[in-house]
Amino acid sequence: MSGLLADIERFRDEALAEIERASNADELERARVATVGQKAPLSQAKRGMGALSAEERPAVGKALQEAIVVVQDALALRRTAIETASENETLVRDAVDVTLPGRAWPAGHPHPISMTLERITDIFVAMGYRVAEGPEVETDFYNFEALNMPPDHPARSLWDTLYIAGAPTLLRTHTSPVQIRGMTAQPPPIYIIAPGRSYRRDAFDATHSPMFHQIEGLAVDTNITFADLKGTLDTFVREFFGVSLETRFRPSYFPFTEPSAELDVACPNCDGAGCGACKRSGWIELLGCGMVHPNVLKAGGYDPEQVSGFAFGMGVERNAMRAYGIPDMRQLFDNDMRFLARFAG
Ligand code: DAH
Repeated sequence: MSGLLADIERFRDEALAEIERASNADELERARVATVGQKAPLSQAKRGMGALSAEERPAVGKALQEAIVVVQDALALRRTAIETASENETLVRDAVDVTLPGRAWPAGHPHPISMTLERITDIFVAMGYRVAEGPEVETDFYNFEALNMPPDHPARSLWDTLYIAGAPTLLRTHTSPVQIRGMTAQPPPIYIIAPGRSYRRDAFDATHSPMFHQIEGLAVDTNITFADLKGTLDTFVREFFGVSLETRFRPSYFPFTEPSAELDVACPNCDGAGCGACKRSGWIELLGCGMVHPNVLKAGGYDPEQVSGFAFGMGVERNAMRAYGIPDMRQLFDNDMRFLARFAG
């Protein structure tokens, strides 16, 4: 019998050693099967109890039961230890240092062209104008014909553009077609401002771009006179430049206005004295304007006997260049972040 008790002690110690060796959940499961499973030495010993004599049985039974309890306790302890270790490992691996500074996303800002468009638009909206839009791919009718430029009109060559093959469709050369679209969409009175892109067959250089922006203005009402045009544009100049600059209206020609004029302002750089910015003339050409031609009013569905109006159109790039001191128009379209960063808030 002492041999049996010694065996039980040995089975127990071997089982404890095996459990101790298990370093993860899989190994521990194998150790459990090997130490308390059906084929484990202690389990087999238990099954063999029936063959023992009545004297042997209590002592052996007690020793076996104690050994099994010790082994089961060891298994439970080991399981807790392995689980805690793996939880700690996860915690360390997934640790987040909440004290690290975040990654900053640099905030964007509007392009200088957008800022200029918005400034100009805001000035007219404050005077009661509504923003109107038209398509950049325009028809010959809106871009030329309705603006008093029938086919073969020589003035068309001033506005040469890219034509879409096979269709009377083109990239609009100015924002003036929005005048017609505006008038056909509503009866008079109309006060609209139309900012947008225009296209011309121009080389890309320091002062030209085949794609550029314009702002068109149109006011049609009863009894609109040239005095209204002058007053409106003088107000615009004062608001845009922030000072009251001298203006002059120079007679000009546009097929869609009669009379037509170009508006010059005294050079804000030299106050009219003459400098590099105004090519020594003392004046800066700001926009084209005039009284809307009766044929244009008719094309818009308005009666020139009932209403009259004025219109104007200005380029945005050159005004942006002057406002922000940009020497070369191409910089506006290069999308070089070093250049654009200058215009951040
Ligand atoms: N559309 C003209 C251009 O692109 C500018 C212009 C001149 C617009 C006179 C007008 C205007 O509305 O009345 O050169």
